[in-house]
Amino acid sequence: MSRLVVVSNRVGIPDGKARAGGLEVAIRPAFKQRGGVWFGWSGKIAECEPGEAETTERENVTYVTIDLKKDDYEEFYNGFANRVLWPILHYRLDLAEFTRRDLGGYLRVNEFFASNLEKILRPDDVIWVHDYHLMPLAKALRDRGHKNRIGFFIHVPFPPAEIITALPNHEQLIPALSHYNLVGFQTETDATNFSRYLTTERGLSRLDANSFAFDEGDLRVGVFPVGVETEPFQRMARRAAESAFVEEVKASLSGRAMIIGVDRLDYSKGIPERMDAFERLLTNFPKWHNKVTYLQITPRSRADIQEYAAIARQVGEKVGNINGAYGEASWTPVRYINKAHSRTALAGLYRGARVGLVTPLRDGMNLVAKEYVAAQDPDNPGVLVLSRFAGAAREMTSALLVNPYDSEGVAIAIDRALAMPLAERKQRHAENYRVMLQHDLSQWAKQFLATLEQPAHSEPAATPRPLRAAG
Ligand code: UDP
Ligand code: G6P
Repeated sequence: MSRLVVVSNRVGIPDGKARAGGLEVAIRPAFKQRGGVWFGWSGKIAECEPGEAETTERENVTYVTIDLKKDDYEEFYNGFANRVLWPILHYRLDLAEFTRRDLGGYLRVNEFFASNLEKILRPDDVIWVHDYHLMPLAKALRDRGHKNRIGFFIHVPFPPAEIITALPNHEQLIPALSHYNLVGFQTETDATNFSRYLTTERGLSRLDANSFAFDEGDLRVGVFPVGVETEPFQRMARRAAESAFVEEVKASLSGRAMIIGVDRLDYSKGIPERMDAFERLLTNFPKWHNKVTYLQITPRSRADIQEYAAIARQVGEKVGNINGAYGEASWTPVRYINKAHSRTALAGLYRGARVGLVTPLRDGMNLVAKEYVAAQDPDNPGVLVLSRFAGAAREMTSALLVNPYDSEGVAIAIDRALAMPLAERKQRHAENYRVMLQHDLSQWAKQFLATLEQPAHSEPAATPRPLRAAG
């Protein structure tokens, strides 16, 4: 079997530290089956010129990481990746701040990744590249003569052509994906948007339902929804629920029901809107005063970017206002915490929460939604209140699906979730859990890699779900 080389900007070297971010969580189990190399950014900024890549061996994975220079960090990571691509891919044209300098930094760092990666590449390696930071990486490798099979998976949404065409230089960046052999998306909507872009904006025609012909070769497109390791997560939650930490949190609630939210502090997660919804709940349904506690765990993210600092201020203010207006000496309605927690601790907390509140304005998948369902006690499960704009809403159709922009509607859904009879809770949970078993994370990497490693134009061994007719 060929060696697997995974490339992503963020690399999940197991260091025992709690960190938030779905990409890292999703990739790690992919190595269970075959081991391999995980290449990417060390998370460090080099003082002067970056030195050689650093190698760390852990179990069957070799982690190879490189530092970025200050300019690269500013222009590539803070700049083009997170101030242009992230907002545009999350349908937030209003927040995109494009500069040619940042685009230059983005392309330069992709070349830098390619030139360091090629030092360790073998001709028969299978390369799997992840996320929006590295769209031009396959082209940079092809330009250096590498003929390996290279796949790309984008963890975030892919918006309609009307939005993506507002990305300056989209004519260069998006078709550069044709240097990959396979491009994978979280949902059919994302894959269809991409296919429509290729047909309507680039005038390409399909070879078959899932492939397009480019000068560089054929590009296969597929849908591979990221999941969680459902049964192991369920077992972990069962154990964690009895840990001293979770017992202490539960005791501190003094019998009140817990609502839980867990998100990176990111404007895509709809946290201010969620605070408004919780405030509505307290205003419109006073029966819940002193009966519920909303625990929001929100590690800071990308803190050097102005929009992230702004959202941090805004959320802090709203929490203060709610607690000031509704709190009592013995009751704090919202507990707002910026510290990252381990996934084990989260699993136990999810299990102890009557309501999982997951209301992003837009999200590629949202693993927290799936983790919340996986963690529940099937005999007495809590209720997931889920934004219809999360990729997870396509599968978790038995959640209470809400429009996160409608704070009154979300408040009604929370009230319903808190009051829901046991029989309905059990039925909704069982339905969501069954879907999660079907789309378990263990299948995700297997299916993506099986499709990537097939020769072009053969039928898929493990079927990626076909695209609906598009374009
Ligand atoms: N997470 C964590 N500790 C925290 C907060 C989050 O380990 O304090 C994990 C969480 O369990 C989930 C991931 O980070 O697996 C977040 O993934 P998601 O898809 O929900 O959102 P993303 O951050 O990737 O946008
Ligand atoms: C999302 C992105 C990932 C990213 C993660 C954490 O999940 O899709 O690519 O790694 O957020 O963000 P960060 O900027 O800290 O890597």
